[in-house]
Amino acid sequence: MKHSIEPIEIKNLFSSIATRYELANHLLCGGLDLWWRHVTALAVAKKSPHFILDLATGSGDLAVAVLKKIPTAQITGVDFCEEMLAEAAKKKIPALTLVAADGLALPFRDESYDAVTIAFGLRNMESWEKGLQEMRRVLRPGAPLFILDFSLPTLPLLKPLYRFYLHHLLPRLAGLITGRSEAYSYMADSIEQFPSGLAMCSLLEQCGFQQTTFKPMTFGVVTLYIAYKNYRN
Ligand SMILES: C[S@@+](CC[C@H](N)C(=O)[O-])C[C@H]1O[C@@H](n2cnc3c(N)ncnc32)[C@H](O)[C@@H]1O
Repeated sequence: MKHSIEPIEIKNLFSSIATRYELANHLLCGGLDLWWRHVTALAVAKKSPHFILDLATGSGDLAVAVLKKIPTAQITGVDFCEEMLAEAAKKKIPALTLVAADGLALPFRDESYDAVTIAFGLRNMESWEKGLQEMRRVLRPGAPLFILDFSLPTLPLLKPLYRFYLHHLLPRLAGLITGRSEAYSYMADSIEQFPSGLAMCSLLEQCGFQQTTFKPMTFGVVTLYIAYKNYRN
């Protein structure tokens, strides 16, 4: 699957909003993004992984949430946007090692992680399948993958209202905060295209994961997927 927007454009887009990314997130989601990462971190902590890869780590918000729940974990935060990684580096977290790399070609050995987490990142990758295959490659057999990303609410009345917010209000509000409204128009379009619910479960299974479950949150505005690397080659 290929998006109409090139990886270099994605990188430039995040680089241009990096210093305001967290503020924009918290304001535009009314702080709910902190709750969504907290719920994800709780799910990760239930599996007690030690070596964790947080892919598309950005400013490291999910890694921070996970470390609050598993203080002994060692997290590698990967992102291909150096400006976003610089924001994560400002947090000076000893247990978080930051690596600039493309999620589609990870510089890690096979089966080197106990868990992979990715929040609001897979949707932005050039190929969802290639991204998932790389995540599978670096996971130990049977180890869990946690994907947190936006989805569309399923309630018939809420869906059109949310779409109006997403396509018309969000880019304008985000433009005021970051000066880059087009970044958020892209985000709205990417949410429309991104598979959710059972469609995401089926994509995960095609890419070598099993026992996939999903938990919609906040009326389905975001969904947390948990899947396990299967044992086939
Ligand atoms: C919306 S931010 C999410 C950041 C963080 N995970 C969070 O929860 O706030 C998406 C991040 O994905 C990164 N990204 C997109 N495609 C990538 C790729 N192919 N490889 C590595 N990072 C990528 C972007 O640079 C950006 O920092």
